[in-house]
Amino acid sequence: MKKLAILVSGRGSNMSAIIDACEQDRISASVEIVLSNNADAKALSIAKEKRINTVYISSQTHTNPEQLDAVMRNTLLKHNVDLIILAGFMKKIGPKVLSEFEGKILNIHPSLLPKYGGKGFYGMNIHRAVVDAGDKESGATIHLVCGDYDDGKILAQETVTLNEEDTPESLAKKILKIEHGLYVKTIQEIIEERIIL
Ligand code: GRF
Repeated sequence: MKKLAILVSGRGSNMSAIIDACEQDRISASVEIVLSNNADAKALSIAKEKRINTVYISSQTHTNPEQLDAVMRNTLLKHNVDLIILAGFMKKIGPKVLSEFEGKILNIHPSLLPKYGGKGFYGMNIHRAVVDAGDKESGATIHLVCGDYDDGKILAQETVTLNEEDTPESLAKKILKIEHGLYVKTIQEIIEERIIL
């Protein structure tokens, strides 16, 4: 049985989908720890209700970035995690965590990377840029996390089609709908070694 850590900053709908899939054996893993850099994240209270270990670590709890990175690494090591799942985590991963867990950190991004990735492309900015460009499709990408934002090997993608009436808001909803299934499926494929990291 693999052990997962989920890193969150916000509402945590991807986190909830992954927790449910673990509980229902659609993912052969257990969620050992949910870590948030935002004390008020809805995701944190959802995880607490589910009696999952939670931890809040941020630049407020640890003002020194190196120390923050070390505490994160130690927390993840203590829980013996096999995979780290970023689910709406809004902070860059530090070098200590990156080198300790190289090739074991996944992220989901709401565009068809490499399009609309990198600095500045987050949240509604992404969907606004896609609609403004008149693209006919967008989607979600699961990729390995390396040093740069939204870089790293692409592991899975799913496409959604835009229509004339789509707004950034409607596109965001469309993509979020497919994210949950794509994340669950991809994590299980990694565990079954059908996707090799
Ligand atoms: C998702 O759109 C994901 O693609 C992006 O952040 C959002 C997280 O949503 N990385 P949630 O917190 O999982 O609901």
